Amino acid sequence: MRRGSIVQLVGIAIVAAVIASLVAIFVDWLPTPASEEAKRIHFVYWFATVICIGVFSVVASVMAYSILKFRAGPDDDSDGPPIHGHTKLEIVWTAIPAVLVTAISIVSAIVLAQNSKAGSDPLVVKVTAVQFAWKFTYPNGKSFGFLTLPKGRHVKLDITANDVIHSFWSPELSQKQDAVPGEHNTLVVTPTRLGTFPVICTELCGLGHSLMRSHVTIVEPAAFDAFLKRGGQSAGPPGLAVFQQYGCGSCHTFKAASATGTIGPDLDQLKQQAARANRGPLDAFIEESIVKPDAYVEPNFQDLMPHSFGTQIPPDQLKQLVQYLGGSAQ
Ligand code: CUA
Repeated sequence: MRRGSIVQLVGIAIVAAVIASLVAIFVDWLPTPASEEAKRIHFVYWFATVICIGVFSVVASVMAYSILKFRAGPDDDSDGPPIHGHTKLEIVWTAIPAVLVTAISIVSAIVLAQNSKAGSDPLVVKVTAVQFAWKFTYPNGKSFGFLTLPKGRHVKLDITANDVIHSFWSPELSQKQDAVPGEHNTLVVTPTRLGTFPVICTELCGLGHSLMRSHVTIVEPAAFDAFLKRGGQSAGPPGLAVFQQYGCGSCHTFKAASATGTIGPDLDQLKQQAARANRGPLDAFIEESIVKPDAYVEPNFQDLMPHSFGTQIPPDQLKQLVQYLGGSAQ
């Protein structure tokens, strides 16, 4: 090959590498990690990305060079030169990808092994997925519809499901884990950053799959201890605790609970909705809407609310929740 051709090839490869690197660096592809595990996973992403940029540059330069240099003229109908296999070239293009793929799998295996280490005294939180909500149960037996975790401590999520296969994912914590009925999968999380981040179901599990969302809040260890000491209850009327425990705020707006969900009807408008529904007194309407959500579906909304709250929420808690939502709580 002539020296000029090699210079041209290398020149195109450098341009391709620069363009690909700019796209990799300046587009915000990944959320800022909020756990040690997420940082390691991001390292794997970058490791694979750098390899991909290298491969892309070589392929792009050879392609661009060939298109420009070996283009047939407008009236050229002749056959190209007969070419047979090139053993050396085939060995090279088999060996290099094999080495690269092996390198990625070794790095991934090391990271997965490190990410599964929970230390000797992890906080164990049971995660139960149902169509279409999350339940997080703490060692003191209290359950919530959202997750609260202390910064800096190893947390072991013990993940299962009650009905179909779901999958737990918080993008800031990076790693996904399936929730399978009858099985207990674990996911180790060591939070490094304060804040509230989304929790998403990432396995198609039915009509309400896209709505199966919750959140994880990472707090200082002292605030977490206080949270557990209160029995995990937030201060406020008992109905508020029930509202939070069952994750109502992830779908509904309710000012008193600082909830801003928009998937279900606005609960600040309950009186107007009860009037439209015309199904008896306000509290009876609210209770029916919780335990039998398809009895009346507010216009412009779908029958997406879980039908399981009637069996999930104990009667005394249900009463507290109804009174709280209806404004008749003392
Ligand atoms: Cu649960 Cu998708």
